[in-house]
Amino acid sequence: MSQIIRFPGMVDMHVHMREPGLTQKEDWLTGTSAAIAGGVVAIVDMPNTIPPTFTSEAIDEKEGIAREKALCDYGFYFGSDGSNLGEFEKVYDRVCGLKLYLDETTGSLRIDDEKKMDAIFRAWPRGKPILVHAERERLKRAILLAEKNYQKLHCCHVARKVDMELIANAKQKGLPITCEVAPHHLFLTNKDRTRLGSLAMMKPELGTEADQQALWDHIKKGTVDCIATDHAPHTLQEKEASTPPMGVPGLETAMPLLFTAIEDGKLTHDELTQLTNINPCRILGIRPANQTYVEVETGIQYQLDERTLKTKCGWSPFSDATLKARIVRTIIRGTEVFRDGTIVTTQRYGKNII
Ligand code: DOR
Ligand code: ZN
Ligand code: ZN
Repeated sequence: MSQIIRFPGMVDMHVHMREPGLTQKEDWLTGTSAAIAGGVVAIVDMPNTIPPTFTSEAIDEKEGIAREKALCDYGFYFGSDGSNLGEFEKVYDRVCGLKLYLDETTGSLRIDDEKKMDAIFRAWPRGKPILVHAERERLKRAILLAEKNYQKLHCCHVARKVDMELIANAKQKGLPITCEVAPHHLFLTNKDRTRLGSLAMMKPELGTEADQQALWDHIKKGTVDCIATDHAPHTLQEKEASTPPMGVPGLETAMPLLFTAIEDGKLTHDELTQLTNINPCRILGIRPANQTYVEVETGIQYQLDERTLKTKCGWSPFSDATLKARIVRTIIRGTEVFRDGTIVTTQRYGKNII
């Protein structure tokens, strides 16, 4: 039987809004429309835009765009390639943390040089987290550097059993380390690559069934702090090219998939609240906004209709999935912004979360 459940809304600490510079894929209006349609009430934007978020002027520009276009609350991460350490103090109060690409990724922000890594970990003002895109040896290195420099470390989109175990060990030692998993790693495996082709290609790549099981096990064990979408849209045309870019959209499917997992007995309602609202707020050091919540209809069954998506890219790797929940309404600070498939506001309700 269908039922409407109230939920505090997802605070998604890993989103690529793509503006400025990559607006063929997404912009702040389409991206935040996708967010509120997916029951996401706040997002934090990644620095791999054009230009990259490496200067205080780049933060000025993003703030201007978000103020004009954002339909949900928002924050920004600063980025670094080791050349902008002098900017850190200037931007510290305006960002949610520092994001570093220590492994292969979309764009050219990867840091290879150990000396640069070391200098960045030394220079970042302590308090707000350093977020890393890192696997295996690079993840080990990041944990060591964080320990040596007393930095808070947040590990993005952990996708492998071995990496989850590294993090569990570091946590056991008492280090201030947190981690997230992405819905695509929870609900897809490398077997889906045959069916989906480049639409199932992202970094880190989809894991084996054993990797996927380890992510669910570590949710139950408490190693996983939060779920974040890593919403990384690319146009279909770009995805169909001979060397497709890595990344998949996720803002509109995360909550329906996770509520489906509750229906299937894989997750409890309390765990979902912790993973998508309470813990991301704790990691970001923010308070959830007042009178902000979503209404979710459960006890239903349907397949995603890609034509209803608000993301500019217009596709999803979950178009074949059977979903057992949908977002009915999204309310931000007392104002209804989304209802029954429609964005119902013309005003920009988004506010900076810090
Ligand atoms: O799959 C990915 N897409 N991984 C990344 O690290 C970057 C992201 C993007 O920006 O497209
Ligand atoms: Zn990444
Ligand atoms: Zn990402």
